[in-house]
Amino acid sequence: MKKKLFYIKEKKILSGKIFKNRIISSPISINLSKNGYVTKENISFFSNLAKSGVAMVTIGAAGVSKQASDTLNGMIVGEKKYFKKLKKLSNSIKKNKALVSLQLFHVGAQGNPTHTKQKIIGPSKYYFKEINNHARALTKNEIYKIKNDFVNAIIQAYNSNFDFIELHLAHGYLLHEFISSHFNKRKDNYGGKFENRLRLINEILNEAYALNPVLKGKIGFRISANDYVEKGLNIIRATKLVKHLEQFEPAYFVVTAGLYETAKFKYIDMKNGEYWNYAKKIKKITSVPVIAQGGITDLYTGNNLLKKKFGDFIGLAQSLIADPDLIKKTLSEKEDEIIPCIAHIKVGACHRCRYIKQKKQVFSCITPTSWKPGSRLLKKDEIKKDLKIWENLNKEIYKNKDTIRKT
Ligand SMILES: Cc1cc2nc3c(=O)[nH]c(=O)nc-3n(C[C@H](O)[C@H](O)[C@H](O)COP(=O)(O)O)c2cc1C
Repeated sequence: MKKKLFYIKEKKILSGKIFKNRIISSPISINLSKNGYVTKENISFFSNLAKSGVAMVTIGAAGVSKQASDTLNGMIVGEKKYFKKLKKLSNSIKKNKALVSLQLFHVGAQGNPTHTKQKIIGPSKYYFKEINNHARALTKNEIYKIKNDFVNAIIQAYNSNFDFIELHLAHGYLLHEFISSHFNKRKDNYGGKFENRLRLINEILNEAYALNPVLKGKIGFRISANDYVEKGLNIIRATKLVKHLEQFEPAYFVVTAGLYETAKFKYIDMKNGEYWNYAKKIKKITSVPVIAQGGITDLYTGNNLLKKKFGDFIGLAQSLIADPDLIKKTLSEKEDEIIPCIAHIKVGACHRCRYIKQKKQVFSCITPTSWKPGSRLLKKDEIKKDLKIWENLNKEIYKNKDTIRKT
């Protein structure tokens, strides 16, 4: 007899917002904005995700300024001029019956000046070996400016009708860099002891809440449970971080891991289901809802994770990119028709969607079912080439399907 997916289908109310189920599309940035503005392609991609049946769509990392972006085509939030189109984006998702969260970030010391033409900065000096770039340490005045950028972006996101705002405190981006002693070696009151390293985040949240108290309960945090470097975050330090952030009445915690320089460890952890164990450990110590994510490829695994209390919600990114009809196909018992993401099957086999930023590629997943940018349709020979790669890998994928870890 078919299992019922009971836990996944359960409704939940957070801050007065009704989640129709426990599935969230994890933040995805697609590098298809223009001069920071939301484009038709952004709207098309994210409303397609809303149509997939998820309870909430998370818009991937939007910069809080031009300097904050990791690409020239990143979305930017905070200045008045962006307001109208941001509202269009949030409304387009709501029209398709999903809630929407907007993730905000500053790229920090992991920025790439070749793409962004911006000066690369961090809490302290940092050498990013992969691209041979030296970030310089921020001055205090620059920190104040970044604080204001975050506050403006939070206020604008809320005013433009996003249900939730997600602060990116992970993946080695600026706010994470302040928390982590791997990056933060400052000698002033923004560095040193834990309380100091949290100062910028505290200031951002206190100021945003002072300007609009309604924001309480509407800000979620993406946190790192493992940076895979000695002085970085690990599960014990992440626990301390969660306890600290509880005072801000978070909407949720999403548990993730890794920095750019430690990406290979994170993919192995993800494949082994280690991200789920991190989420479970966080869930044990907080009453704030936790989103477990990373390497979830099917709803039955997700349902089991919820049942066994690894999280209150599950997050999916690549499975939904590869096949946005995954949820519908599962619910109508047509799982055999689901096209899986190659990266999930074989670590490092594809990751084409991920490298759009580094390689300036047009967003495209090679599975035939995935969303393709409408106004920049792939040329016929490109599609042919993609399909060829897909077909060649297809056999291997099905051969390896059983290697995906289940709960
Ligand atoms: C194309 C792409 C873009 C992503 N963009 C973001 C992002 O903007 N912010 C973020 O926190 N994570 C981002 N991620 C990571 C995902 O949210 C997710 O954590 C990761 O893909 C693991 O989940 P999955 O196995 O369900 O794909 C991105 C992933 C992909 C594939």
